[in-house]
Amino acid sequence: REKQRQEGVNLMELSASFFRERLRMPEGKAARDYLHARGLSPEIQEDFAIGYAPEAWDALKRHLGERGVSESVQIEYGLLIHREDSGRRYDRFRDRVIFPIRDIKGRTIAFGGRVMGDAKPKYLNSPETPVFHKGRELYGLYEARQANRHLERLLIVEGYMDVVALAQFGIRNAVATLGTAASETHLQRLFRLVDEVVFCFDGDRAGRQAATRALETVLPLMIDGRQARFLFLPEGDDPDTLVRREGEAAFQNRITCASPLSEFLFEQAAEGRDLGSIESRERYASQVLKAVERLPDGVLKSLMLSELASRTGVETSRFEALLNRHDTASA
Ligand code: CTP
Ligand code: MN
Ligand code: MN
Ligand code: MN
Ligand code: MN
Repeated sequence: REKQRQEGVNLMELSASFFRERLRMPEGKAARDYLHARGLSPEIQEDFAIGYAPEAWDALKRHLGERGVSESVQIEYGLLIHREDSGRRYDRFRDRVIFPIRDIKGRTIAFGGRVMGDAKPKYLNSPETPVFHKGRELYGLYEARQANRHLERLLIVEGYMDVVALAQFGIRNAVATLGTAASETHLQRLFRLVDEVVFCFDGDRAGRQAATRALETVLPLMIDGRQARFLFLPEGDDPDTLVRREGEAAFQNRITCASPLSEFLFEQAAEGRDLGSIESRERYASQVLKAVERLPDGVLKSLMLSELASRTGVETSRFEALLNRHDTASA
C-alpha cells in the first residue's frame, strides 16, 4: 500500500512540475494574464505552486508517458480520462489554471483546475483516487502550516481563490473544503491542530446553508476549550472579493467579531419567529434543545441550557429532564 502511494505521489509531483513549467512558457501567457487580473502576485503563485494545463488533449499524457508512467496509472490517479464508449483517452485538465492540492506533508495528491473564461464547469477537481479523499483533505492546510510557526485558529472558506487571495493579503490561515460540505473528519483534523475554527462561507444562499450544515457537524466536537465561530459576509461577497475591497485590517476585524457558536445557534432558532406566543417559543426552545442535545457533556452544554432557560422563562431543570428523557428514549 505504501509503495502504491509512493508511486501515486511521484506521478502527482511530476504532473505538478509540468503544470508549473507550462505556466512560465509562451503558451501560459493567457493564464499568467488571468492570474494577474485576479490580483495574484508571482510570489503567492509560487507559494501555492499554481500552474497551467495546456490546451492539447494529450500534453500531460505524453509528458508522463515519456517518463515511464503507464496510462493505466494516469487513469487511476484521475489525470487521464478513459471513455469506455469510444475508447478515447485524453487529459482531464486542459486549458485551465491549476491549483495543486497538497497533503499535510506537502505532497501533491490532487488538482483543481479553473477555466479562464465562462465555460462550465468553472472548476474541475481530481476524482477520488488512492491518495485523494475529498472528505478528508483541505486545500491550503499545508501552506497555512508552512506560513505559521504557531497556528491559533483556522478559517474555513469555500474556494481555492479565497484561500490564495487571503494569503496574499497576509491572512495565512485559511483552508477550503473541496467543493463539498465540511465533514466531521475535516473538523476533527482541524481541531487536532487548533482550538478555534472560524467558518466563513460566501455571502449567498448556498453559503448560509453551508453555515447551517457546518453548525450541525461541529456540535458533537465542541468539547470544552474548543471554539467555533461564524463569520457572515455581505450579500454577494466571498472572502476573495471582500479582502480585496476592504483590505486586511477590516477583514481581520470581521474575524475578531465573528459570532460564537452559541450566538449563531440562538439567532438561527429565533429567525422568523416573533416569540410572542407560547407556540412559537415552544418551537424555538425545541430547536435549541435539539442542537444542545448534540453537544458533548460539559460546561458549554450546561451554559447553553441555562441561557435557554433564561430566554424562555422555563427552569433549567425542566430542560435537563427533557434532555435526559431523550437520552433514554434513543438509547
Ligand atoms: N467548486 C467546484 N466545482 C464547481 C464550482 C465550485 O469544485 N463547478 C468548488 C471550488 O472548490 C470552488 C468552491 O467550490 O473554489 C466555491 O465555489 P464558488 O464560490 O462558485 O467559486 P469561487 O471559489 O468563488 O471561484 P472564483 O472566485 O474563481 O469564481
Ligand atoms: Mn475515498
Ligand atoms: Mn458561492
Ligand atoms: Mn470567488
Ligand atoms: Mn465564491
